[in-house]
Amino acid sequence: MQDNPLTDKVALITGGARRIGREIASRLHDEGMRVMIHYRGSRDDADALVTELNGSRPDSAASVPADLADNGAVEQIMLETVHAFGRLDALINNASTFYPTPISEATEQQWEDLMTVNLKAPFFLAQAAASVLEEYRGCIVNIVDIYGHRPLKSHPIYCAAKAGLIMLTRALARDLAPSVRVNAVAPGAILWPENDADEVSQKRIIARTPLKRMGSPAEIAAAVAFLIRDASFSSGQVIAVDGGRSVVP
Ligand SMILES: NC(=O)c1ccc[n+]([C@@H]2O[C@H](COP(=O)([O-])OP(=O)(O)OC[C@H]3O[C@@H](n4cnc5c(N)ncnc54)[C@H](OP(=O)(O)O)[C@@H]3O)[C@@H](O)[C@H]2O)c1
Repeated sequence: MQDNPLTDKVALITGGARRIGREIASRLHDEGMRVMIHYRGSRDDADALVTELNGSRPDSAASVPADLADNGAVEQIMLETVHAFGRLDALINNASTFYPTPISEATEQQWEDLMTVNLKAPFFLAQAAASVLEEYRGCIVNIVDIYGHRPLKSHPIYCAAKAGLIMLTRALARDLAPSVRVNAVAPGAILWPENDADEVSQKRIIARTPLKRMGSPAEIAAAVAFLIRDASFSSGQVIAVDGGRSVVP
């Protein structure tokens, strides 16, 4: 662990209590980082993860609740992170909302929700984190989606928000250089949305994936760890972790 460049560095993972975010937090912790786990509703999961991680290394994990729809909360998340750990080296914008918004039925409230959680909050978190990330020559990793490049039917608002987050990755890579690298990971099918039991479309997605399987949260976490630890000359890049889905029509 002594030679590990990430030892005792600090990562903030939004939506880090469950599913892919939890795996990212655990992986970065395994790499030696201290982790701040942001959550909104999943308090029990966040508490359990913090207890588990602190059990393996005392004072190496903490959690902060916040609804990212509340812009004031963004500043609070950053204050609590720096207060708990004294620094910040990596911001991972993982929290997301995802559901269909067919053009005939979509509402302004859905627009606000999808755009806020997937695009606005990552921008203002990056703004709030910028000075401390500059100080520690840190980085930002945005979790985007292959559907930010190609549209998923009936999900125009989500797709537009993730497309915006891809451009934000590139724009902030330029604006926060040379001190802060900004990159993204674009998952393909990793975990089905909860309450989505449409087996026909799930099978169709896997059939159209060259590697013929779903990915795992661990494979997303590995790409995030690579971008933080190894990709020292990369900024403004998006790594697709999608089993090759984005190279076929
Ligand atoms: N799952 C996939 O196969 C897949 C595919 C492509 C891209 N992605 C991307 O990968 C990332 C992780 O995916 P996932 O499926 O694990 O995500 P998820 O379960 O849909 O959401 C992650 C977390 O976001 C948090 N969140 C939602 N609304 C929030 C709000 N208003 N304020 C604060 N937090 C909020 C929730 O935290 P609480 O539970 O604490 O409320 C939730 O646990 C996302 O960015 C997603 O777009 C996933």
